[in-house]
Amino acid sequence: MLFDLRPKSSRRDLFNRELELKFLDDAAGRGDPLILVLGIRRIGKTSILRSFLENWNGIYIDMRGVVRTADLYERLSEGLSDSLGRLKRFLKNIRGIRILDVEVEVKWRGRDSISFLGLLEELNRRRERIIMILDEVQGLRPPISMEVKSLIAYAYDNLENVTVILSGSEIGLLRNFVGIDNSASPLYGRYHLDLMVKRFPKDLSMEFLRQGFKELNMSVDEGIIENAVNLFDGIVGWLVFFGRSYVDGVRDLKQISNVAVQMALNELNKLDWKGRMVLKAIAEGENSWSTIRRYVEEKRGITIPKSSLTRTIRKLEKLSIIENYRFLDPVYREASKRLR
Ligand SMILES: Nc1ncnc2c1ncn2[C@@H]1O[C@H](COP(=O)(O)OP(=O)(O)OP(=O)(O)O)[C@@H](O)[C@H]1O
Ligand SMILES: [Mg+2]
Repeated sequence: MLFDLRPKSSRRDLFNRELELKFLDDAAGRGDPLILVLGIRRIGKTSILRSFLENWNGIYIDMRGVVRTADLYERLSEGLSDSLGRLKRFLKNIRGIRILDVEVEVKWRGRDSISFLGLLEELNRRRERIIMILDEVQGLRPPISMEVKSLIAYAYDNLENVTVILSGSEIGLLRNFVGIDNSASPLYGRYHLDLMVKRFPKDLSMEFLRQGFKELNMSVDEGIIENAVNLFDGIVGWLVFFGRSYVDGVRDLKQISNVAVQMALNELNKLDWKGRMVLKAIAEGENSWSTIRRYVEEKRGITIPKSSLTRTIRKLEKLSIIENYRFLDPVYREASKRLR
């Protein structure tokens, strides 16, 4: 069902991502070692990744909230359990791995344990392509981030049957995480492919909504569909949110958009005051470094060091909220007007 709020996990349920799937299928088919899947929030990265995995042997791991080593292994165990159907024959007779009905237990410390790396080595020995997807990896902090980077570098250099896919919504931070240009990074100098997940153009966004409503036997006025697309652009996560709300009986577009803006606002409120003020300035139409500086200084009655403003703007770019003084998502622009 298109209007399901959870990420899609099968190619059948995925609307119009054939090119992205082909890109990944081709790369995995060639045995490429490292792929980055990039795109702003709610654009459909996870859905593409999970659906892609339907045809490959591999593990999908969501790295959001992983802080300690125990978290990492918990997620690994969940990832293995999710793909157990395909992976069972690979996992038999590996020390430290136990298959319990529908779950996989990973013993990662003590006697007869196995490390993440050890497991990848075992899987690599089976001489079939194995895909390891790490989603939202850019949020990891030291020391776990270093551990994961070393793992990826090791797989890159030594495990010829493993393809690693990294994904994240904070594009600049993900590039920093990989650190291809940073000689201090374990991944320095490694070649990789990029897949940038784009928004749907207007006609496809409208078609998406039409199909979503049709699946639920609802006929919705073209005017409403067009207004929703004008508001939410081709960001599929918001289109699903709109469709779901409408189906659930909320017929006022303004009300639906209000809830979406509030969701975005909750995220933006986690930024420091400089970040919030810069976003507010841009939302109110400032579109250059110097006018933003004046805006913030006037609002706050305090001078801002040049370097500090530049750093703040760069950070907002790395978080994929803005680019060239413009919002990448219209909902975040609306939310930013409400910042204080
Ligand atoms: N191609 C698609 N067809 C149908 N629904 C989709 C498609 N892509 C994404 N969706 C839906 O849009 C929403 C957001 O998708 P998803 O979680 O995959 O995006 P994301 O880029 O991983 O988001 P986030 O940055 O929040 O992790 C979900 O409800 C998902 O079901
Ligand atoms: Mg995601």
